[in-house]
Amino acid sequence: MRNTPRRRRKLVSKLNLSAIRADFPILKREIRGNNRLIYLDSGATSQKPNSVIAAERDFYENHNAAVHRGAHQLAEEATELYEGARAKVAAFINADVDEVIFTKSATESINVIAYSLGNARPGSEFHIKPGDRIVVSEMEHHANLIPWQELSARTGAELVWFKVGDNGRLDLSNMDELINERTKVVALTHQSNVLGTIVPLDLVTAKAHSVGALFVLDACQSVPHYKVDVKALDVDFIAFSGHKMLGPTGVGILWGKKNLLDEMPPFLTGGSMIETVTMERATYLDAPKRFEAGVPNMAQAIGLGAAVDYLNAIGLDEIHAHEVELTKAALDGLQSIKGLSVIGPKDLEMRGGVVSFAVEGVHPHDLGQALDQYGIAVRTGHHCAWPLMRRFKTIATTRASFYLYNDFDEIEALIDGVERARKYFESR
Ligand code: ALA
Repeated sequence: MRNTPRRRRKLVSKLNLSAIRADFPILKREIRGNNRLIYLDSGATSQKPNSVIAAERDFYENHNAAVHRGAHQLAEEATELYEGARAKVAAFINADVDEVIFTKSATESINVIAYSLGNARPGSEFHIKPGDRIVVSEMEHHANLIPWQELSARTGAELVWFKVGDNGRLDLSNMDELINERTKVVALTHQSNVLGTIVPLDLVTAKAHSVGALFVLDACQSVPHYKVDVKALDVDFIAFSGHKMLGPTGVGILWGKKNLLDEMPPFLTGGSMIETVTMERATYLDAPKRFEAGVPNMAQAIGLGAAVDYLNAIGLDEIHAHEVELTKAALDGLQSIKGLSVIGPKDLEMRGGVVSFAVEGVHPHDLGQALDQYGIAVRTGHHCAWPLMRRFKTIATTRASFYLYNDFDEIEALIDGVERARKYFESR
């Protein structure tokens, strides 16, 4: 069965889609027979352009050595490439270079902050104790929920959360109750990985800072897709992953304000992050090295640098505008299908290119499998957001997520595929 779309309308986009698509070798794959791959799961992980694959390969073929250590030429080249990647990432989010820490994933980045705060001793400005409060929301990915649950269990702090409205927006009506003088940390997602909702941060960051709380932003679903400027956002920390922004797996980013990072206790300790060591104790370097113990994921960070180059060459504003058009087409088309409901905002206001939906009478996993038979890759399941699933009284959704390499035909194929699957399950 070929996944030829039924309707062909022209997508309004400034992107040169045929040139972009040619840069991604995997898009030539055929799936389950002779269906061309329609990859609508970039919210989970993005595909990689040739330049990123080549950068990793070039590192191993020509420059592989442990960074910040050797006295030889390869070590010098590896260090230059690795630090060059840090500079590219810093410029991408308008940060100072020493504020960018490479981790292995966004999950690790958030854990670094939570463990660091948990390691702070009484008397430290970062110390968290019984009676303190940590604020999250019902729409967090588990990666921005469980580290805070654990921190509150270790310290005795109270965990409280913003609720989500039926429209998929964060309910900020009780913000003054939730964020009070006892609040030490507010940790929110920038954009829900399930609903696509973009959180209006200004109000919350202002409130958090007015009570002296730290603001941690999970930016996994925003940084790859539109301009995130850490100076403009007025947050204290952000976490995001390389693999969702065309980069390799195995590299995440933690950005934090330098004055905070330099004072916080480290999480992982060991080589490269020390200033002095005796048999009894050690003192630690400032950020970023303070938080980069051990030989880092060098090739992955360098591959991420190539991904940043690629995104800059295309232009984030153009990418975002393209995704808005794709999302509009998907929302319009999907909602014309009988029994289909979109879970999350149904308009384009403050929303990204992630669309979750349910089709009456069809289990999301069955729908995902049916779409896979047509070559369409979507994510099904709880999306690492169980509390949000419970909030919407479901155990799973089907989720399509878009990126710069998706074209309008693919959205049409998704709509046709869902309709075809719905009819199939209805007739059984
Ligand atoms: N966090 C990724 C997702 O939402 C894996 O699919």
